[in-house]
Amino acid sequence: MSIILGIESTAHTFGIGIVKNGKILSNVKKTYTTKEGGIIPIEAAKHHRENKNLIYNESLIQSKIKESDIDAISFSQGPGLPPCLLEGLKFAKELSLKLKKPLIPVNHCVAHLEIGRLTNAKDPLMLYVSGANTQIIAYSNGKYRIFGETLDLGVGNFLDMLAREMKIGFPGGPIIQNLAKSGKNYIELPYVVKGMDLSLSGILTNLKQKIQSNKYSFEDLSYSAQETVFAMLLECAERAMAHTGKKELLLGGGVSCNSRLKEMAGIMCKERNAKLFIPENQFLSDNGAMIAYTGEIMFNSNIKIPFEKIDSLEIKPRQRTDELEVLWK
Ligand SMILES: Nc1ncnc2c1ncn2[C@@H]1O[C@H](COP(=O)(O)OP(=O)(O)OP(=O)(O)O)[C@@H](O)[C@H]1O
Ligand SMILES: [Mg+2]
Repeated sequence: MSIILGIESTAHTFGIGIVKNGKILSNVKKTYTTKEGGIIPIEAAKHHRENKNLIYNESLIQSKIKESDIDAISFSQGPGLPPCLLEGLKFAKELSLKLKKPLIPVNHCVAHLEIGRLTNAKDPLMLYVSGANTQIIAYSNGKYRIFGETLDLGVGNFLDMLAREMKIGFPGGPIIQNLAKSGKNYIELPYVVKGMDLSLSGILTNLKQKIQSNKYSFEDLSYSAQETVFAMLLECAERAMAHTGKKELLLGGGVSCNSRLKEMAGIMCKERNAKLFIPENQFLSDNGAMIAYTGEIMFNSNIKIPFEKIDSLEIKPRQRTDELEVLWK
C-alpha cells in the first residue's frame, strides 16, 4: 500500500498527480500558453512558481488524502527546460523536507511510456510524439531502446513553430488540428524518412516559404502538414514493428492527442493485425499523474532517496531515454 505524489514541470505544464496502488486519485495541471509567440522558458518557470501551491492543494482535495498520507514524492528530473525543471526540483525538495519523505527522480520520457500500462498494453512498441521528442521506443534487455527518432525537430515543436509562423499562438498543435479539418487541397510537401528515422526541419522551411508566398490558405497548409508528417511517423513505427516483431502499438506524448494521428495509427495497426493502445488525453500531454505512476513503480522496487540525502539531487536537462538502467522491470 503506497501513496505517491508526482510533480511535472519540464516545460509548459506544471502538474501534480497522486497515485495509490496503481490507481490515479488526482491529476491536476495548469499550462502556460501564449496568443502569438512561442514558449519563453523564464516565463514558463514563473508560471509554475505562481501556480504550484494552488495545484498542490487542488490535487490533495481531489484525491481526498491528507498531506501526511503521502509515502514519497516523485518529480520529473529531465529532460526539459532548466528554469522549469528547477521549479519542480525546488518544490519537491521543500515537500520532502517538510513531510520527511523520500524523493524519487523520474525520467519524463519514461513516464510518458509507463503510464501506457493503464491501457493494459503488455509489450508495446511506443510512438512517443511530444514537443521536444519524437522517438520510437521499445523495451529490450534492461533498457528502453530507441529504434527510430527525429534527426532534428520534435513533431510537437515542428507544429508549434509552424503555428508561430502563422501567428496563431502556443501550443500550435491543437489549433493546426482544427484548421486542418477545413483543409480541402493537399499541397505536395517534402517527405523525409531515412530507415526508421525522420527529419522535419526541411519541411518546416518549405512550409515557411509557402506561408510567405501568400498563395495558400492556412487550412490547406495545416491539412497537408499533418497528412505528410503523420504518414512519416507511422511509416517509421510500422517498420520498427516489423523489425522487432511487436504486435502492439502504444501512443504517448501530447501530439498523440491529435484525432487524425489516432485515426491513421488505427488504420496502420488494422492492416498489419496489430493492436493499438491510446491512453486518455489527460495522460498523453505532460501531467503529474504519469510521474506519480512511474514513481510508484520505482518506489515498489525500492528506488528512492531518503529526505536526509536529497541535497545532492540535481536536474538532468538533457537526459536520454536509452541512458537509463530500467531497474524496476
Ligand atoms: N491535438 C493536438 N494535435 C497535435 N499536437 C498537439 C495536440 N495537442 C497538443 N499537441 C502538441 O503536443 C506538444 C506538447 O506535448 P507534451 O505535453 O507531451 O510535450 P512536451 O513536454 O512539450 O515535450 P516532451 O515530452 O518532449 O518534453 C505541443 O507541441 C503541442 O502543440
Ligand atoms: Mg512531455
